[in-house]
Amino acid sequence: MGARLIVLALAACTLFSAQVVTSRAGSDQQELRLVTPPLSMFRNQIRPPADTLPVPAGFSRDQVLHGDRVFHGEAANGQCSVCHGIDGKGTANGNDLTAGMFIWSDGSVKELKRSVLHNMAIAPGRDGDLEPADVDAVAAYVWAISRQEPAK
Ligand code: HEC
Repeated sequence: MGARLIVLALAACTLFSAQVVTSRAGSDQQELRLVTPPLSMFRNQIRPPADTLPVPAGFSRDQVLHGDRVFHGEAANGQCSVCHGIDGKGTANGNDLTAGMFIWSDGSVKELKRSVLHNMAIAPGRDGDLEPADVDAVAAYVWAISRQEPAK
């Protein structure tokens, strides 16, 4: 508890001094100061290694690898990482998919696939040109990153 307060106080000081520095930079910086950058900007986002992630039962390593490419915009024009982060840990526009806790499903591949189909892949402009095989693969990939060991 105490340590957490100190960390918060330090973070507040850092933010405050950053503001003072920015405001000295002149009025043309005014607009920039009003924008709150997403927290994901302050984090070193490391793409999970898809070749060592766990593979869900009934799926293949190739599917997890393909899901990784869809997630990161390298196949089927997928946009997942834009909102969920390169590391899948979320941005201001999409939640953390790595915590092993899901709001809309029990975290099984079947239910993750349902979330992706109903909420992520279908809405126009929300995500790329996912075919059924891409949805299977990306659901397996999300299952895999939700089961990775937390970063030390
Ligand atoms: C435009 C931003 C955006 C894109 C692109 C996007 N998502 Fe999402 N995603 C969200 C948001 C926001 C939520 C949370 C919705 C909610 O809780 O109401 C979400 C929720 C989810 C969930 C459910 C999480 C839970 O807690 O149950 C999954 C799974 C998911 N996204 C996977 C994906 C995958 C896979 C892709 C790529 C095919 C993708 N998303 C693309 C924004 C996005």
